[in-house]
Amino acid sequence: MEYIVNGGNKLKGEIAVYGAKNCALALLGATVLTSDEIVLNNCPEIIDVTNMLKLLVAMGKKVERCGDTVIVKGELTSTCAPKAIATLLRGSALILGGTVARYGQIALPLPGGCSIGSRPMDIHLNGLEKMGVCVLREGDMVSCKGKPRAADYTLRFASVGATENLLCACALINGRSVLSNCAVEPEVVALEQLLVKMGAKLSGIGTNTVTIDGVKTLHGATFDVIPDRIVAATYLSAIVATLGEGTVKKCNPKHMQAFLQLLKSRFDVKTYDENIYVKATAHPYGYGKIVTAPYPLFPTDMQSLVMSLAACCHGQTEIDERLFENRLAHNAEQLNKMGANISVRGSVATINGEKLHGAGLLAKDLRGGAGLVIAALSAEGQSIVGGVEHIDRGYVTLAENLSTLGADIRFCI
Ligand code: EPU
Repeated sequence: MEYIVNGGNKLKGEIAVYGAKNCALALLGATVLTSDEIVLNNCPEIIDVTNMLKLLVAMGKKVERCGDTVIVKGELTSTCAPKAIATLLRGSALILGGTVARYGQIALPLPGGCSIGSRPMDIHLNGLEKMGVCVLREGDMVSCKGKPRAADYTLRFASVGATENLLCACALINGRSVLSNCAVEPEVVALEQLLVKMGAKLSGIGTNTVTIDGVKTLHGATFDVIPDRIVAATYLSAIVATLGEGTVKKCNPKHMQAFLQLLKSRFDVKTYDENIYVKATAHPYGYGKIVTAPYPLFPTDMQSLVMSLAACCHGQTEIDERLFENRLAHNAEQLNKMGANISVRGSVATINGEKLHGAGLLAKDLRGGAGLVIAALSAEGQSIVGGVEHIDRGYVTLAENLSTLGADIRFCI
């Protein structure tokens, strides 16, 4: 599957953002904490969500999906996550904490490394061990046995997934747990809010230290998945890269401060409650030095978008990717095929802006793929972007949506 992109059209107009993949996956992971109905609105219709729902169904949950509303209820009938489904997405690991807390056991295939990095799960598992769970790693499987006990635990790194799993584990056990050095990404905060709606007792929501007073049972709740800040940044980048003008709607500018600061100092940007307007009349002189780090600092998921912007502007940009070791090199190589001037040493890419031309490109991961589409839209001539199946994991009809802004992009099987 590929996109055929004829670059050079200035994108113009308005486009709305849908619910965040990484929020939906965390909330779906928490549905195992109760047999009551969890109703999620604004749940994106993307492949990762479909696969997460398939996993829950395979383990016994009842799922109804109507447009962007998803209802999950019922008990798990198996605590063994089938490998064929669980390995389709890394988000499958987000059922770990809740399943152990509610059922006292789980067998889960370890997601292993992927094209963006090695992605270990030591923090998730060490946290559970600290809570008294017996963790057995056998080849590419992990088995956990025993209900967790309340404990205080400091994450050695503010991992998003580990914070989410440990919050779920602590929510449904006897006693008080204190989790320190928690991730504070908006998707983590949304999970904390859902847990409270389900009857969990949490304090310190949205901070690095969360205190959880475990309860015996959690109940059903209805919750809106938060807007996808990475999708919003993708649309804004596409507008800017093509020197266009437009408004990205139904997003939350407060969740995108680091990225918006970068744009604001270079383009005409106006933020409203749920909308962001941007107008770009000329490419800037580089984007300075960017270092990726946990929220609220510059997100790794927006790094490949900015690499494409930097590749087609004037002057120099330096990007230091500190979270996922393989996230830079592949896109740098692809962009260089378009005439970009990017060199990578270790975790740092140095990008000297050039005029880009069309080329045959291959997406190897979701966000990197979106970055390549942006570069193709800004380039002169035609590009073919292969590996669209990676992009589809996290974007709803990206080509169609960009077309509504005037992009010449079509999907080809
Ligand atoms: N890490 C460890 N040990 C662990 C867990 C993480 O060393 O036990 C390391 C990772 O290797 C990485 C860093 O900690 O270097 C950050 O990883 P984190 O656990 O925070 O990431 P994640 O939970 O695996 C989520 C998103 C990613 C996003 C990152 C960072 C989901 C399903 N995925 O992954 O999203 O890049 O947080 O914000 O929530 C994407 O959407 O394309 C994507 C990759």
